[in-house]
Amino acid sequence: MASKAKIRAVTGMNDMLPTDSARWEFFEDTARDIATEYGYRQMRTPILESTDLFTHGIGEATDVVEKEMYSFEDSLNGERLSLRPENTAGIVRSAIENSLLHDAPRRVWYFGPMFRHERPQRGRYRQFHQFGCEALGFSGPDVDAELILMTARLWKALGIRDVKLELNSLGEPSERAAHRAALLEYFEAHLDQLNETAKHRLYLNPLRILDTKDPDMQDLVEKAPKLISYLGEGSLRFLSSLEHQLERAGIDYVINARLVRGLDYYSHTVFEWTTDRLGSQATICGGGRYDGLMEILGGKPAPCVGFAMGAERVLELMGEFGVKPEAPDCAVYVIHAGEGTLDPAVAVAEELRDLDVSTIVHGGESSMKSQMKKADASGAEFALIIGENEAASGTVSVKRLRDRGEGARFAKQETLPAAEAAEQVFSELLDIETKDL
Ligand code: HAM
Repeated sequence: MASKAKIRAVTGMNDMLPTDSARWEFFEDTARDIATEYGYRQMRTPILESTDLFTHGIGEATDVVEKEMYSFEDSLNGERLSLRPENTAGIVRSAIENSLLHDAPRRVWYFGPMFRHERPQRGRYRQFHQFGCEALGFSGPDVDAELILMTARLWKALGIRDVKLELNSLGEPSERAAHRAALLEYFEAHLDQLNETAKHRLYLNPLRILDTKDPDMQDLVEKAPKLISYLGEGSLRFLSSLEHQLERAGIDYVINARLVRGLDYYSHTVFEWTTDRLGSQATICGGGRYDGLMEILGGKPAPCVGFAMGAERVLELMGEFGVKPEAPDCAVYVIHAGEGTLDPAVAVAEELRDLDVSTIVHGGESSMKSQMKKADASGAEFALIIGENEAASGTVSVKRLRDRGEGARFAKQETLPAAEAAEQVFSELLDIETKDL
């Protein structure tokens, strides 16, 4: 028989394995708890959206829309669809469709997979995950500061240090238009120094040329007209008020006049958190204000601001700081002698689960010795043993698997009436939890 070809995961798309789940859950739980502390509520939108949502929302001349979207025609009905490359456009679409802002502004958070057809490398994947928050209907800059404070609190809770906050203002559309005209004039005067991408961007979105990493163009972009010089009084006041709020909260930042972000919907505040520990994919979180997006997508105008962070990058950075949460498979592992002893084994496990104690009953039949090894490897605190003798006498033997010092209960195996086992093990576990706090 011909051997079957192995089917592999799609390039740039990763599995989260059970050995990784403790780290992911720690990140997700911490992010969710902090967002909840700030009054943000969860929102989930579909992974597939109409392609138009992104071309209109993110902007036709952006890298994301131009060359990174997974777009296709649904062969069943001809609809043009895209896997979401980000979630701000989807959240705004849903807010409009469901009249979420009809009575009050909204603070929402989300977590989920995003898709961009980029060249995969460390920290850059084709399926990646974002945790993000969006404050819909808030004119700021107080809420801009709130979001930044929230991210700073999250870094601390995750054990991440040495991250840098870069801040800029993209001002009002009319200010960007005046700056754009000046940029065009400047780059047109230096056409010979533009690379191909920059020439392509020149009339589509010259602001993006400032983003270039091309070493030969650094001098040129460094000397290009700065948007900040075109900001009017209102925009400057907005920025300086945000700066004051960050300073009052003790958050360090630098103004980066070249920070323009890769998506077209921004105005006023834009920011990024970066690290020098992850190589070239240094931005762990990016965000900003998108006051015009609601209207662009057909809703009533409403000022909004938000951020999203790449979970894979944040997790990798946690690893750099030695934060590697691990969790045992269970707290109690129940060992039994197969048929005849299985019923009492399942019964005591169910009692423990009634008490919220995670419990594994050994699956299948194997020797007591090999089950004991499995119990140890599971990371459980206790093994409960139900052999033929225990089953016949209605008892359970309890053995502690971890060293908790001299005199710890069950350090030596003890046999006790089945009716008492669950309660006693539970109270021992409570004791450890309290001690570990
Ligand atoms: P973004 O800058 O495109 O912004 O993405 C936010 C973050 O997602 C990045 O800083 C990075 O950490 C992560 N990320 C992006 N692409 C990849 C990738 N290919 N692989 C791994 N991680 C990646 C947005 O998506 C906006 N929606 C943020 C926002 C929310 N602005 C306002 N509200």
